[in-house]
Amino acid sequence: MVKVVVGTQWGDEGKGKIIDFLAQDMDIVARYQGGGNAGHTVVLEDKKYVFHLIPSGILYPDKICIIGNGVVLDPVSLFEEIEYLEKNGVSMEGRLFIAENAHVTLPYHKILDQIEDKFRGKGALGTTGRGIGTTYADKFNRIGVRVIDFIEDDIFMEKLKIALKLKNYLFREYYKEEMLAVDKIYKETEIYRQRIKKMVKNVTLYLNEEIDKGKNILAEGAQGTFLDIDFGTYPYVTASNSIAGGACTGLGISPKKITHITGVVKSYTTRVGMGPFPTELKDDDGEFLRSAGNEYGATTGRPRRCGWFDAVISRFAASINGLDEFVMTKLDVLTGIKKIKVAVAYKFDGELYKNYPFNTKVFSNCEAVYEELDGWSEDISSIREYNKLPDNAKRYVERIEELIEVPITKISTGSSREQMVIR
Ligand code: IMP
Repeated sequence: MVKVVVGTQWGDEGKGKIIDFLAQDMDIVARYQGGGNAGHTVVLEDKKYVFHLIPSGILYPDKICIIGNGVVLDPVSLFEEIEYLEKNGVSMEGRLFIAENAHVTLPYHKILDQIEDKFRGKGALGTTGRGIGTTYADKFNRIGVRVIDFIEDDIFMEKLKIALKLKNYLFREYYKEEMLAVDKIYKETEIYRQRIKKMVKNVTLYLNEEIDKGKNILAEGAQGTFLDIDFGTYPYVTASNSIAGGACTGLGISPKKITHITGVVKSYTTRVGMGPFPTELKDDDGEFLRSAGNEYGATTGRPRRCGWFDAVISRFAASINGLDEFVMTKLDVLTGIKKIKVAVAYKFDGELYKNYPFNTKVFSNCEAVYEELDGWSEDISSIREYNKLPDNAKRYVERIEELIEVPITKISTGSSREQMVIR
């Protein structure tokens, strides 16, 4: 079985917990895109772990974890994460593998990401500053450094010289910034190049062999559908294909081999960084969601923008990802809100939009058309059976299910592994 888990909003849907939950039945967990911009949180025995690069499945001592070719890998961040996990008793010896053809984030990618976003001025994207877009840009510009190049001293030196020639031109002539020295980067990365070697593998070959043997693979997506470079709210997106299709190109698995696709959806909507967000709340309800849901970025600590559930985008996400099911997270956060709204369409310039528009002008300026549902006041965080949920909570779930046209099979009611209602 190959199961893909994908975010269906703007990221931060709670994928970390769901991947951890689903990983129980898996042999291998493989990340297929994004990089250290992700922040997947898992709470295990009251301890909180935040993963940026390493798949969340690593907490199970018997699972193999893969960082796929679609990921951009910052070695500094990788080894920080490895050390943090090892200090907390998680050993990944012999079970964490990195694709030879994943691209490496180097110091100039991070510097340029931050400078470029500042230079965009009013049009800033609010990137995470982790060098994600700049690493992918080099990949597509064919001046990137793959992991397999990184670990071969002479090849790395050659590639670094070419890349820095271009980057230093930008630093000097355009950004009026200090230039970077080839030797310094070469030397500073030496320790990582040595340490990473034993984890590097042709993971595509490995994954395809394991699939043929009947092993269970979970392909872990980062960010969410509306941060996807092609289908998201461009240009306010990340630089990779976070949709389910990204699992094929980001791991080297044929679409024919994908057997199941799970979408993770939060019971309300959040977004970090800039960009349109029709159901955003700038009032007390938004403040309530931020505080009750602890909506602060796991990677940057930035407060997340909060708003009502948007069924229009989730229906689109169900369609382009080909979802078999939705897992809904954070239903407990809505407890105590008297009237809960759900967007069912948008209005712009006298026109009604029932589908997600690619036109940024429409999506940025439209008004959400809402349905209003009654809330509930009971604490639901310890409920495990669907029938025991308050009637209004069930009504909320079922109405959303009708609107997004895909079954909601699991509902998460808290951050720990056990806080899950299976329908
Ligand atoms: P980048 O991925 O750092 O280039 O940032 C581009 C946009 O994606 C910014 O608005 C970020 O806040 C957003 N973003 C990137 N990664 C995540 C994530 O894991 N969760 C939520 N938003 C993200």
